Amino acid sequence: MLFPEYRPRRLREKESFRRMIRETALSVDDFILPLFAVEGKGIKKPIEPLPGQFHLSCDNLVKVVKEAADLNIPAVMLFGLPGKKDPLGTQAYAADGIVQKAIKTVKDALPDMTVLTDVCLCQYTDHGHCGMVDKGTVDNDATLDLLARTALSHVKAGADMVAPSDMMDGRIAEIRGTLDDEGYSHIPIMSYAVKYASSFYGPFRSAADSTPQFGDRRSYQMDPANALEAVREATMDVEEGADIIMVKPALPYLDILARLKQEIDLPLAAYNVSGEYAMIKAAEMMGWVDGIKVIMETLLSIKRAGADTILTYAAMEAARELDK
Ligand code: PBG
Repeated sequence: MLFPEYRPRRLREKESFRRMIRETALSVDDFILPLFAVEGKGIKKPIEPLPGQFHLSCDNLVKVVKEAADLNIPAVMLFGLPGKKDPLGTQAYAADGIVQKAIKTVKDALPDMTVLTDVCLCQYTDHGHCGMVDKGTVDNDATLDLLARTALSHVKAGADMVAPSDMMDGRIAEIRGTLDDEGYSHIPIMSYAVKYASSFYGPFRSAADSTPQFGDRRSYQMDPANALEAVREATMDVEEGADIIMVKPALPYLDILARLKQEIDLPLAAYNVSGEYAMIKAAEMMGWVDGIKVIMETLLSIKRAGADTILTYAAMEAARELDK
């Protein structure tokens, strides 16, 4: 008998064999495309640290969402850049706020597109924190009502699902309660349950103009060193009524995703965040990596680790690649 007896290379010999035993396959169904809405008309302004992404006024937003729909992408996640900010982030829950207008415009034009919304205050507060600030700290309990109002205003504007990203304790229960009381018990919540205080959000913060004006987000976002805490955070949000649990960022936290896949029996989302996307784009622009191949491998790895759905700025190019 030849040594070794088992030869893994036998099943790598032909593409047909490789296809037969492939364990994970990406599909366009896996993608959610994040988009940035701005006030105004005729605006499609490139976001420098996120090549291929734009600030879009509602008229152009619809065109981009149409492109995503034509590629069969099932859902978009909307972020808004308000015209004005204040300490309480009132534009976050204004009926005529930018996201509320964007939701309505998209749903009117493309009712079959699923619209998710990021529920947070940081783009809307003048201090750039995700909640109400009192004596230099973010006041958890005072923020909950503002978050619930924000979520409700999104749903009233037509959002199909809300995704709170603020990391206040107890916000899932608060939002669930408000939506239920107001007759929206059918609207699911995707909780940014396991959101780390990550430097990979850098390009997003310049895109969304949401860098904190003092301090940082470490008093509410998770310490990157912690894994057990991720299980506790996710379990809490399951108990509070979340429908989907998110891990964010994705690539530096694949161990967390794989672990939650074992421990949590709800669908898992992963956010392939701005810094992850920007790194690939930068290396691609330098001619150092084959961009689309690295993107596909990255998205595959996120799915293999346990994600049932992936938020990614590369959704459109990945969908095109899968279509080839
Ligand atoms: C809002 C929010 C952030 C991101 C999504 N929602 C920024 C942050 O928490 O600082 C980051 C997304 C990305 O980096 O792509 N709280």
